[in-house]
Amino acid sequence: MRRTIGTCYYPEHWPREMWARDAARMAEVGLTWVRVGEFAWSRLEPAPGEYRFEWLDEAIETLGAAGLKVVLGTPTATPPRWMAKRHPDMFAVDREGRTRGFGSRRHYDFSHEGYLRECTRIVTLLAERYGRNPYVGAWQTDNEYGCHDTVLSYSPAAREGFRRWLRARYPSAGNDGDIDALNTAWGNVFWSMEYSDFDEIEPPNLTVTEPNPSHVTDFRRYSSDQVAAFNRRQTEIIRAHSDAPIAHNFMGKETRFDHFAVGADLDIASWDSYPLGFLDQKLDVDPAYRRRFARQGDADFQAFHHDLYRAVGHGRLWVMEQQPGPVNWAPFNPAPLEGMVRLWTWEAFAHGAEAVLYFRWRQAPMAQEQMHAGLLRPDSADAPGMAEAMQVAREIEEAPDVASGRAPVAILFDYDADFSWTTQPHGRGLDYFWLVFDTYRALRSMGLSIDILPPDSIDFRDYRMVLAPGLVHMPDSLKSALANSGSTVVIGPRAACRDASMRIPVPLPPDLPGMDVTVASVESLRPDMPVPLAGGGAATGWLERLEGGATVLETTHTGAPVLVAEGKLHYLGAWLDQPALRRVLGELCRASGLETLDLPDGVRRRDTGTERFWFNYDNEDHLVGGLAIPAVGFVREELPR
Ligand code: GAL
Repeated sequence: MRRTIGTCYYPEHWPREMWARDAARMAEVGLTWVRVGEFAWSRLEPAPGEYRFEWLDEAIETLGAAGLKVVLGTPTATPPRWMAKRHPDMFAVDREGRTRGFGSRRHYDFSHEGYLRECTRIVTLLAERYGRNPYVGAWQTDNEYGCHDTVLSYSPAAREGFRRWLRARYPSAGNDGDIDALNTAWGNVFWSMEYSDFDEIEPPNLTVTEPNPSHVTDFRRYSSDQVAAFNRRQTEIIRAHSDAPIAHNFMGKETRFDHFAVGADLDIASWDSYPLGFLDQKLDVDPAYRRRFARQGDADFQAFHHDLYRAVGHGRLWVMEQQPGPVNWAPFNPAPLEGMVRLWTWEAFAHGAEAVLYFRWRQAPMAQEQMHAGLLRPDSADAPGMAEAMQVAREIEEAPDVASGRAPVAILFDYDADFSWTTQPHGRGLDYFWLVFDTYRALRSMGLSIDILPPDSIDFRDYRMVLAPGLVHMPDSLKSALANSGSTVVIGPRAACRDASMRIPVPLPPDLPGMDVTVASVESLRPDMPVPLAGGGAATGWLERLEGGATVLETTHTGAPVLVAEGKLHYLGAWLDQPALRRVLGELCRASGLETLDLPDGVRRRDTGTERFWFNYDNEDHLVGGLAIPAVGFVREELPR
C-alpha cells in the first residue's frame, strides 16, 4: 500500500469561487486526502430541521472531481447555538459544579439524551446522503473526544446515567441493582458512607474532602463508557450506509477514556500530532532539553503515540492532523526547523501510518485559530510547511513503500490503570502515562522498536520481552499469560495492587504465579529524595518494600531489593530514573538476545518488516556505528538479514 498525505479543509470558511482553485492546487502538490465537515453543523442546519447540504455536495464534488478523496467528519463536536436553546441543560458541568457554556467547541455532555438524539439525527442524514458518494473515502466521528477536558461531567444527566450504570455493574435479581453489593465493593462502611438506594449516589465532586477512590474510579469508568457509547452510536449509523472506513482523531496524552474501547468500533485509529505544542505544553523535561528541541519536538513522544494508536486501530493508523508550522495553543509556539515537517511525516510512515494530513490547508484570517499556520498563508501564498509536504509527495512516488513489521519488545498500556493512578496517585506528579512513557523512552534510547499492546492481550509468543509497568488491575488470566509466555517479562511497579473495586487484595500484591514476592509496603518519594540503586541510577517518586524468596537482581544502596526474578519473570518495585532504567532493562535485553545501542538524545531508530529508519531530531549531525544521520533528517536502509 502506498502511503498518502492530505490536509484538513474548511470550505465553509472560504467563498465558493476559491474551492476549485484550492482543489486543483491540493491535487497538484500531491495530496490525496481532504478532511472536511467536522465543525460545520451551523452551516448544514442553520435552524432546527432546516437543512442546507447543497454546499457540502458541491464542495465534495469539487474536491472529488480534482482527484482528491474526502474524509467526511461528523459535526457533533460543535453543536450550533440553537441547539443550546433547545436543550439548555446539554452542557457539561465541571468538578467545581460550574456549567460550561457556548462560544467555542465541545460544549456538550456525553450523557445528555436529548443531545444524543440530535447527533443520531444529523449523523443519519449525513450517512444517508454521502454513504455511497464515490468521493467519500473515509469518515471521522466527532473531533478529538476529551479535548478541553470534556470527558468528565458532573451534570444532572451524568448523575442519572451514572446511577443506571451502577445498577448494571452491581446487579440484582430484578433490574434494580444490589446496593449492598456496591456498599461492600466500595467499602462504604468507612466514614458511614453507606447508601440504601442507588438514587442517593452523586457524582464524586464537591465532597468535603477526598471522595472514596472506588466511587471515583467507577465514575471514571462510567464516563469512559459514555464516550465509547457516543462513538458507537455514530459508527453504527455510518456502517449501515457506507463501506468506507471509519476513524476518530485521538489526541496526544489523553487518558480520560479507554481508547481501546472506542477503537473497537473503528476501522482506523488516527491521532493529531503537534510535536512542538506537546513538548512545550505536556512534557516535563529539563529546561536545556526543552530549549534544544523547541523547534523539533521530543523524539519519543510522537513515536509513542504512533505505536499506541496502531494498537488502538488494530494495525490501521493515520495521522489526521499534522502540525505544519507554529500552532496557537501552547505556552510558546515557535516555528519548526526546516525539515521537521518532512521528518515527522516519514516517522509516522515508519511507525505504520497509512496517511498523514496536515492541519490545515490555509491559515484562517478569523476566529480562534488565526495564529495557527497552515500549508498556505491567509493570502493563499505557500507557507513554509508547503515545500516539505510537496517533497514528501515526491518521495512517496519515488521511494519504496514502507512494510509493516512486528517489534521484538512489547509494552502493555491500560487506560483503566490510569483511572486508578489519577484517582489515587499517592504522590504529586505520579502519573501512569509518564511511567509507561519513561519505560518506552529508555528502550527507544537503546535503539529498540516497540509494540504497544492492550491489556487484554493473551498471546505474547512473538516478543522477546514484554513489559507491564503500573498495571494496577491484573486479572489472573493476564498474570498467567505473561508468566507462561516464554518471553522475558517485567511486571511492576505498582502492579496488581488493587482489585477491580479498588480494594487492596489479599494475598498482597503482586501475587504472581510461581514467584515468591510480596509488596509489603509502598511509599511515594519527594522529587528531592531519590533513592540511589547499588548499581547506579535511582528510584524516583515511588518505591516498594519487597519481601519473599525470589532471586534479587537489583537493590537500593542500602541493599533493599528493587528487582527480583524467577526464571524469565521479573518484578520491579520502583519507578526508576532513565539511567537506572537503561542499565537494568539493557541488561535484561541483552540477556534475551536483543542488541542494544546507546543513542544520543534526539536520535532514534525504527525497524519495519524490511527496513531500518534512523531519525535525527537534533540540529546537528550524528554518527552512530559509522552511519551518518543528518541533522533534522533521516536515513532509510535495508534491514540486515
Ligand atoms: C486540534 C483540533 C483542531 C485544531 C488543532 C489546532 O486539537 O482537532 O480542530 O483546533 O488542534 O492545533
